[in-house]
Amino acid sequence: MPRKVLVFLFRGVTGMIETFFASLPNSLSVLRLWYLRCAGMKVGAKCSIARNVYFLGRVELGDGTAIANNCFLNGAQAGIKIGRKVMIAPNCVIVAFAHGNDDLSVPMIDQPWVEAEVIIEDDVWIGANCTILKGIRVGRGAVIGANAVVTKDVESFAIAGGVPARKIGTRLKSVC
Ligand SMILES: CC(C)(COP(=O)(O)OP(=O)(O)OC[C@H]1O[C@@H](n2cnc3c(N)ncnc32)[C@H](O)[C@@H]1OP(=O)(O)O)[C@@H](O)C(=O)NCCC(=O)NCCS
Repeated sequence: MPRKVLVFLFRGVTGMIETFFASLPNSLSVLRLWYLRCAGMKVGAKCSIARNVYFLGRVELGDGTAIANNCFLNGAQAGIKIGRKVMIAPNCVIVAFAHGNDDLSVPMIDQPWVEAEVIIEDDVWIGANCTILKGIRVGRGAVIGANAVVTKDVESFAIAGGVPARKIGTRLKSVC
C-alpha cells in the first residue's frame, strides 16, 4: 500500500481515538488522563480535564490543574507550560503560535508559523472564553477575567480583563 495511504489511515485512526477519549463524560475523565499520558503528554497528578478539550503540540500540565469543557490548547513546538493548581474555565484558547502574515505575495496559510512559548504559572484562574496568545507569561496567582484576549504578560496576583487584556485590579490589596 502506498505510504501516503498508510499515513492517511493512521492519522484517521489516531484522530478517532483522540476524539473518543475527548468526548467521554466528565465522570470518566480518569480514562482521558490515562490516554493523554499514554500519548506522551506530561500531565501532573490529580489533574482534571473536562469533555471536548483538545491538545496539539507540546503541552505540559502541573499537579492539580483543572481544565473545563471546550478548551483548545496548541503548544506547537514552542510549548505551553501550565503550572500547579491552575483553573481554566470553559471555551478558552491558548496557542503558542501565530500564522506568519508578513509576506503579501504568499497566502497566509502557506507562511511559516511564528512560535513562542506560553507559560501559565501556579495558582492562576483563567475565566471563561479567554484567548491567550503566543509568548505570554501569566504570573503566579493572577486572575484573567472572562472574555479577555491576553496579548501582553500579566504580573503575579494581578486581575486582568478586556480586549486586549489590561490590569483591572490586584489580589494583593487584600493583604496590604
Ligand atoms: C475578573 C473577575 C474575577 C473580577 O471580579 P471582581 O473582583 O468581583 O470585580 P468587579 O466585578 O468588582 O469589577 C471590578 C472592575 O473590573 C471590571 N471587570 C470585571 N470583570 C471584567 C472582565 N471580565 N473583563 C473586563 N472588565 C471586567 C468591572 O467592570 C469593574 O470595572 P469598574 O471598576 O470600572 O466598574 C470577574 O469579573 C470575572 O471575569 N470572573 C470570571 C468568571 C468566569 O469566567 N467563571 C467561569 C467559571 S470558573
